Amino acid sequence: MPTLPDHFRKLVIHELTGDFRTSTSVTTQAWVDPGPGQVVIRNHWAGCNAIFDKNLCRNTIRYVDVRPPFDMGIESVGEIVAIGPGVSGWREGDAVATTRLGSGYREYQLAEVERLVRVREPTPEVLTLVPTGISGMVGLERIGELRGGETVAVSAAAGGLGHIVVQIAKLAGSHVIGLTGSDDKAALLRSLGVDRVINYRSENLRQVLASEYPRGIDLAYDSVGGEIFDAFLDNLAMRGRLVISGHTSDFDQPVEYLPQPRIYQQLYWKSASVRAFQNQAFPEYFDDTARRILDLYYAGRLKVLVDPTPFHGLERIADASEYILAGRNAGKVVIRITG
Ligand SMILES: NC(=O)c1ccc[n+]([C@@H]2O[C@H](COP(=O)([O-])OP(=O)(O)OC[C@H]3O[C@@H](n4cnc5c(N)ncnc54)[C@H](OP(=O)(O)O)[C@@H]3O)[C@@H](O)[C@H]2O)c1
Repeated sequence: MPTLPDHFRKLVIHELTGDFRTSTSVTTQAWVDPGPGQVVIRNHWAGCNAIFDKNLCRNTIRYVDVRPPFDMGIESVGEIVAIGPGVSGWREGDAVATTRLGSGYREYQLAEVERLVRVREPTPEVLTLVPTGISGMVGLERIGELRGGETVAVSAAAGGLGHIVVQIAKLAGSHVIGLTGSDDKAALLRSLGVDRVINYRSENLRQVLASEYPRGIDLAYDSVGGEIFDAFLDNLAMRGRLVISGHTSDFDQPVEYLPQPRIYQQLYWKSASVRAFQNQAFPEYFDDTARRILDLYYAGRLKVLVDPTPFHGLERIADASEYILAGRNAGKVVIRITG
């Protein structure tokens, strides 16, 4: 077991500039021993959530009021290095995944044991599944009411969230359409079994949907928004469901006002619907979905794509964030925090 430090480093928002790089800085915090029901975890890897983080730096997350200095980072995987009084069932060296705002972008974290997810090893792949994969699975199955044999369309399909969504849909027996903006990512999507890959930069999305899917899409899972959302909405099948899981393309832009028919004109005669999904509103599905998605992975039924670009240390998180915002990533972007 490593020697425990007196102090450790973490990333905080020190000023709300609206931009990750200029809002954040690395600072130190004094070590705190774990209390009853608590453990201390050494974070090995943290997941980068560029859009959420930028929203924090703009103070536009509806359920958080950011007052600097503000601890950042949501998910991490690591190992238990200290155990508080009265904690049973956990040992030093156990591998865990955690999901809590303020616990990710730091070398050590204090955690309540009931929030820990036991994992076999603290790897980037496990980190991708907890919680990003869990979000995709809950959004698709519970909110989108995934059922076998349907046509499912997924935007940002080669992204951290999207590549899990397409595989869950395939495992359920769906015909899957995956959207991406590059040929490299298109090849990755084919390797995951996506039936129809659409590179929206080289093909016309609306034309492809109209000519190849005249019956429409049964379940559309969108995290990009803008024209992709509009195309999905216009091409829903009878009883089609469109899940809003984000709007990467314009989340930091002024709200666009469009002259168009009221949404019930699109939905009523098809008995179709649009549903929004934001993971923190559905905590009741977390534990069961974590167990199921890890079982699928350990059984070799789910491939996890971790973006190969290395980001090492708290100082590189701004680079990782900008890399995602430029749309350059394939799979989940992770940061090596310690080790
Ligand atoms: N609902 C929830 O609970 C939940 C949970 C986690 C994440 N999310 C949301 O899901 C989305 C995906 O998150 P993620 O972390 O997995 O990111 P990601 O999908 O790995 O990365 C974003 C991808 O979006 C695509 N994209 C399309 N238009 C873009 C644009 N204008 N600018 C930048 N990228 C664009 C790019 O892929 P292509 O080039 O292939 O299009 C890019 O790689 C985000 O909006 C995030 O907020 C929602």
